[in-house]
Amino acid sequence: MAFINSSVVEDIKLRNDIEQVVSGYVNLKRAGSNMVGLCPFHSEKTPSFTVYTSEQSFYCFGCGAGGDVITFIRKIENLDYPSAVEFLARRAGIALELDRNADKDSNRRRRVLEMNRETAKFYHRALFAPEGRKGLDYLLGRGLTMPIIKIFGLGFAPDSFSALTTHLRSKGYTDSEMSSAFLCGISQKSGKAYDYFRNRVMFPIISVTGDVIAFGGRVMDDSKPKYLNSSDTPAFKKSRNLFALNYAKSACSERLILCEGYMDVIALHMAGFKNAVATLGTAITAEQARIIKRYTKSVIICYDADEAGQNAAHKAFRLLGEAGLECKIIKVEDAKDPDEYIKKFGADAFANLLTKSRSEFDFRLDSIMANEDSSTGDGKIKILTKAVQLISEFSGASQREVYIHKVANMLSLSPEAIRHDVEENISKMKVRQKKDEFRKLMTSSEGYGDRINPDVARNPRAAKAEEAILGILLLHPEYMPQMIAKGKLPNPSDFFTEFGKKVFSLMLDLSTDGFNESMLGESLTPDEMSRLEKIKMSRRQVGTNTTEILLDCIKTLVDAQRKNNRDIADIIEEKRSRNN
Ligand code: CTP
Ligand code: MN
Repeated sequence: MAFINSSVVEDIKLRNDIEQVVSGYVNLKRAGSNMVGLCPFHSEKTPSFTVYTSEQSFYCFGCGAGGDVITFIRKIENLDYPSAVEFLARRAGIALELDRNADKDSNRRRRVLEMNRETAKFYHRALFAPEGRKGLDYLLGRGLTMPIIKIFGLGFAPDSFSALTTHLRSKGYTDSEMSSAFLCGISQKSGKAYDYFRNRVMFPIISVTGDVIAFGGRVMDDSKPKYLNSSDTPAFKKSRNLFALNYAKSACSERLILCEGYMDVIALHMAGFKNAVATLGTAITAEQARIIKRYTKSVIICYDADEAGQNAAHKAFRLLGEAGLECKIIKVEDAKDPDEYIKKFGADAFANLLTKSRSEFDFRLDSIMANEDSSTGDGKIKILTKAVQLISEFSGASQREVYIHKVANMLSLSPEAIRHDVEENISKMKVRQKKDEFRKLMTSSEGYGDRINPDVARNPRAAKAEEAILGILLLHPEYMPQMIAKGKLPNPSDFFTEFGKKVFSLMLDLSTDGFNESMLGESLTPDEMSRLEKIKMSRRQVGTNTTEILLDCIKTLVDAQRKNNRDIADIIEEKRSRNN
């Protein structure tokens, strides 16, 4: 049974132009009748990700990701098929009437979210109860005000193994549900649930849609671990969420401040910088960068002053830059982090610091200069080599020109000499990149090591015929009923690879009420859908006379299968005669 009927899926696709949808995630440039950009699914420097507007599909020649707009959303938003269809329906303002209970995943998600909300209320109440006094004292002692504690919904996890679990049981949640939400552990001995967070001040993590999706809990002294955090749950992925983005989202359209810690963010909001967010105890991910891109144009990175913080800032630069965000950095002086800085020097000093934010280039050049001695010839050469490499990483020629002059001035060298080195370095880098990408392309397109269809290598000829059949039928679904009527289509069992069998039988199933390729997504993974896109693509390139080719390929496939069966029959026969 299809989760949603094919005409609705068609309507949703029509109202979600792939070029517009993809543009929300990828910087697309026109190339002939298509659009190209840097692939969001693998890391590359030259664009091999292509959007075919007339076909409403995408394909990456680097990593083989491809498909329609639904597959794109499944991959980039990490959603299952029904959720991706819903996502696009919502985007296009189409009301979907779905049987929510039929969808087990989203049901589980809903239970976790309800349980989290109940838990956040429980912790928040506990903070103001006598048992939470030490939690409240701790937070007030760190300079937080009552209003900010309430805005962030901070709480207290009682020093007890059963306070929360007892409460949630009374609200009808099972131990297994609590454990799936990482609110409790399960005791090995008794098999019973016990509270996961104990004797900690609690920070609820709230999604941009206002759901409580996770918790972080901090000890109130120097004991370890300093923070405990929810692991990923059916309703939460660390790598896809940011602390306080629910508040910052309406204050960050011009710029957003990215810091490391919950306490930094809260201190910044309290001081009036309502555009601050933090990652959830991990380095920033490409997914988070893309999410940030939806809400702002530019990011100011303000990480801790220690070496770890500065290295992390450097990585964040790169990732945010790749997502197309303008990035600047500030480093707090005489304080370990923004929280301490504001406490010591005040909000005005921090605002002043913001005006002194440096570009990635300046920031990295400063760190190159700091590590070498520019007064010696040797040191100068080392600086020059690193600076040339740094400049080469920027793609704009006029931008590079500015940097070339800057470095020339600093090292008292002629800009011409530096420009020459930069140009030489860039052409070397290009050659290397081309080689790398070509090698990757070659290794990924051979049958060996094929994850999606591992059977290809066993009989490439049969597999080719199979792919041609699938490709032609996917490009011309109108052939299906004609061929079925004439009894010309093969059986799924004639297909040589497991993948081919699976796809073809799904196509036959769906062809009974009008085949629609998108519907295959209900049963196939995004990677499998990508493979189909690749198959279609290679078909499209050879073109014409498709019905004849189709019949030829069917014959090749059926013959190959028969030969295979005969081989097996021969072997059995031979064995039998030997045994006699
Ligand atoms: N973190 C974590 N687990 C730890 C330490 C840190 O998950 N054991 C995460 C938390 O999300 C924390 C962030 O890393 O907010 C930054 O760490 P840190 O700077 O140590 O924390 P702060 O939030 O600044 O806390 P505090 O000022 O209270 O030390
Ligand atoms: Mn801190």
